[in-house]
Amino acid sequence: MTAVDLEPIVARIRFIPPLGKAVQDWLQGQLRQGRLQGLKEALNGRWLGHPLHPALSDLPIGAFGASALLQLGERADPGLSGAADLLLGAGCVAGVGAAASGLADWQDKYGAELELGTAHALLNSASLLLFVAALGARRRGGRGVGLALTALGLGGLGAGAYVGGDLVFRYGSQVNRNAFAEGPSKWRAVADEGEVVEGSFLRRPAGGTEVLLTRFEGQICAAGAVCSHAGGPLDELPLEDGQLHCPWHGSRFELRTGKVVHGPATVDNLVFETRVSAGRVEIRRR
Ligand code: FES
Repeated sequence: MTAVDLEPIVARIRFIPPLGKAVQDWLQGQLRQGRLQGLKEALNGRWLGHPLHPALSDLPIGAFGASALLQLGERADPGLSGAADLLLGAGCVAGVGAAASGLADWQDKYGAELELGTAHALLNSASLLLFVAALGARRRGGRGVGLALTALGLGGLGAGAYVGGDLVFRYGSQVNRNAFAEGPSKWRAVADEGEVVEGSFLRRPAGGTEVLLTRFEGQICAAGAVCSHAGGPLDELPLEDGQLHCPWHGSRFELRTGKVVHGPATVDNLVFETRVSAGRVEIRRR
């Protein structure tokens, strides 16, 4: 079976690109004024060391699926209806959290990722509305209507999950850009000692990855040159307070430890051990 190429399909749905751009512009305006920045970073998941959205999105999917099964079972055992309602309600609350975390990640996307992300969000938001309507129908005694709306909602969630899967597995959205970058495991000479100076970066390939070299407080330091968030160059902006700054979305990393200091990145930067041997700077994976 051939996978469906979603990009041209989504691009042909005329309202998706301008809608995505308009919402993103509005959000970026809020962030530029300093509003929502802390909330966005929390929703990105830096505190967890992992994107929050995949974890949160499992909760409503599980709750809605379990509620659908209980709604089927309540025909034989009416005692199940309370639990079916409870799970529908819990799924709706969890769905709001999943949507907010997804919005925080989506806000940093461009091009096809932005458009597919918009389609993913629309499908899941429409599904969430169907589950809210299902709960309302059930509260009014319409169990058949509730079950039909729940089934429709699950179908929408499935379609949204397909698009979300495409974003991650085809476009590498939110995937650590250094996942396969290891660097040299044994000492490797990468520069002359005199080339590494305070206040500037030297970029060198080493062991299948890009490494930046600099001096900080007299010590030679080597770190990954590629931002784990989406691949931005960490050697473009000057070092500030011992931190590397990514120019693309503002992530910051400790030069010496690689620790993420500021999101949206959630994965620490690569760091390397350094030594000087016969006037050459050598590095190896820490
Ligand atoms: S690429 Fe997004 S913060 Fe670096």
